[in-house]
Amino acid sequence: MKNAGILITIAASLLSASIASADAVKVGVLLPYSGVYAALGKEIDAGFNLGLEEFGKGLDLEIVREDSEADPGKSIAKARKLVLQDKVDVMTGIVSSAVAGALRDFVHGAKVPLMITNAGNNSVTGAKCSPYISRFSFSNGQINRLMGQWVYDQGVRKVFTLAPDYTAGHEMIDSFAATFVAAGGEIVGGEYTPFRKTKDFGPYLATAKASGADAVYSFYAGGEAITFVKQYDSFGLKANMPLFGAGFLTSPLYVNAEGDASIGVKTVLHYVPTIDSAINNSFVAKFQSQHEGRSPSEFAVAGYDAAHALSLAIQQGATDRASIAESISKVSFTGPRGEVTIDPKTNNIVQPLYVYETVKKGDKLTQKVLAQLPNTQDDVNGCSL
Ligand code: BEZ
Repeated sequence: MKNAGILITIAASLLSASIASADAVKVGVLLPYSGVYAALGKEIDAGFNLGLEEFGKGLDLEIVREDSEADPGKSIAKARKLVLQDKVDVMTGIVSSAVAGALRDFVHGAKVPLMITNAGNNSVTGAKCSPYISRFSFSNGQINRLMGQWVYDQGVRKVFTLAPDYTAGHEMIDSFAATFVAAGGEIVGGEYTPFRKTKDFGPYLATAKASGADAVYSFYAGGEAITFVKQYDSFGLKANMPLFGAGFLTSPLYVNAEGDASIGVKTVLHYVPTIDSAINNSFVAKFQSQHEGRSPSEFAVAGYDAAHALSLAIQQGATDRASIAESISKVSFTGPRGEVTIDPKTNNIVQPLYVYETVKKGDKLTQKVLAQLPNTQDDVNGCSL
């Protein structure tokens, strides 16, 4: 009897798979499920699933997932498999800016829509933009650009910068530094640490300490952020050199792993779960009910909003690659982070930003919003769509 039950289950799932594949819109999800950004990839996927549950009811979708490992070479192989073998109608995902840069020409040439749910690589919605690439997260420039003035306004005059040595690290620091210097500040030094390899930030922190800076501005994410923030505190820097940066540094996704070392760090993001709006409160409650009370992060919201946009496009009749790409680039709605629009000039997102401080309330670490920065839109940066 037991065996019969298993056979029925398998037969039923095979049947539903074949029904789904006949007319279904095939969605290729390319995220890091392993490697340095694995937690980020899984969180984006969780947000994407919740978004489909909510906005994609009744839609005939077939989802094919592949692990990018946040590795450019492996990601190209996986993207080729999704497009050429699985024949997906649309791709979504991508966490690393290096992966986004590596995939750009393939996606553009194959004319497959790619809805980016994290990677901030400036060029894919700038000089190397494509009608097939849209972004539901942020660009590296967008996230940091307004922080130069904001940090200067806090009385900081001399800054030392630290970030991983790859596209995202350089673009985030460049964007901050340009506006900090324009405001009258000085970058007294900086280091780019080997990406995915640095476990001991000690030598870099020693250089920062000796630099004469008032503060450090930084970008790290995932496991590197946890190590960095903890070492920054344990080296005794936090007390004398306040830490600022892009908010991935103290993401709600892993701030608990950083513990009290994260308290007082002031950063900026496109989403924090403490945004007080009816839409966000409802999103947070739904996410928490699926994740043992844990609040969603900026990574979850990007997946959720991408699922929202894709569902809208399909509901409006887009089912093939060209019509999905066209429809996605016209999307606009209010979501958990506020008003979200895809800029027709670049296909990058236009959205508000939130400066927040990690604080402790009772025994919980949480995000205190210090300022909402105006909706930010990138310059076209050489993009012509
Ligand atoms: C990036 O590579 O673009 C990136 C990775 C993690 C967090 C934020 C940005």
